[in-house]
Amino acid sequence: MDLGITGRKAIVCASSRGLGKACAMALAVDGVEVVVNGRDVSVLEATAEEIRKATGAKVMAVAADVSTHEGQAAILTACPDPDILINNNGGPPFRDFRALDRAMILDGVVQNMVTPIELIQKVLPAMIERRFGRIVNITSASVKMPILGLDLSSGARAGLTAFLAGPARDIAHHNVTINGLLPGMFDTDRLKNSTRAQAEMKGVSVDEMADTRASTVPARRFGHPDELGKLCAFLCSDAAGYITGQNFLIDGGLFNSAI
Ligand SMILES: NC(=O)c1ccc[n+]([C@@H]2O[C@H](COP(=O)([O-])OP(=O)(O)OC[C@H]3O[C@@H](n4cnc5c(N)ncnc54)[C@H](OP(=O)(O)O)[C@@H]3O)[C@@H](O)[C@H]2O)c1
Repeated sequence: MDLGITGRKAIVCASSRGLGKACAMALAVDGVEVVVNGRDVSVLEATAEEIRKATGAKVMAVAADVSTHEGQAAILTACPDPDILINNNGGPPFRDFRALDRAMILDGVVQNMVTPIELIQKVLPAMIERRFGRIVNITSASVKMPILGLDLSSGARAGLTAFLAGPARDIAHHNVTINGLLPGMFDTDRLKNSTRAQAEMKGVSVDEMADTRASTVPARRFGHPDELGKLCAFLCSDAAGYITGQNFLIDGGLFNSAI
């Protein structure tokens, strides 16, 4: 399917690994110039080169912490007028909510709510002027279902989702869309780390823990990052211009509901 976005420019935040990388790859496959981002320079450069080699697309790498004003400025200097913005970031670690102090809570809110809002504020005027913009926020299935220990992450992402529901509709007539992707369990470094931690806590092997976790998913497996990347690229397509203010679970059926 031709997504009609060849030659468009995209910023994909937090994209040196995992879900962000899969989004950058899928957009590059469809002929989009991408800015990839992460804090670890060597991992980031390797990812940029991998995407260039695989797709022939123009890929710029910006090593920066996207949660900071300086990091955002560096990303926007590399691509001042993106047609596409994929908001992604690291998430707070698993922690008992009783152990969170004010500073930790504010950090989590900055990472997963304030940062994407700030970036949207910055890229929106030019998207509106050009009458094309696609914004996708990677949040989490935990916006809809609790995951004890990730309460801060869930709260910040739910805040982002509610915050953007109005703006998405306010700007829809400019052909600028804002949608959310709500991943369940995807096979990334983050999932591997949490599986390892849970295996240690329960005194079982990592493989056993992974099987236990995957068995809770109706699809009986973790998601492949490229499955999320392809959905992301579709939401950024010309064809998806009539989809806005929506939040798509991509979780192998994990969230149990009829609608
Ligand atoms: N995987 C899942 O099953 C799942 C499910 C639900 C939600 N999520 C959420 O989706 C997001 C991505 O998850 P993932 O599984 O892809 O994680 P991951 O495999 O750990 O990758 C995270 C990526 O974000 C970058 N990053 C982290 N903090 C950053 C920062 N402050 N500035 C710039 N880049 C940063 C990392 O690079 P550096 O470390 O080098 O900066 C890396 O490229 C997270 O917020 C996660 O909570 C994931």
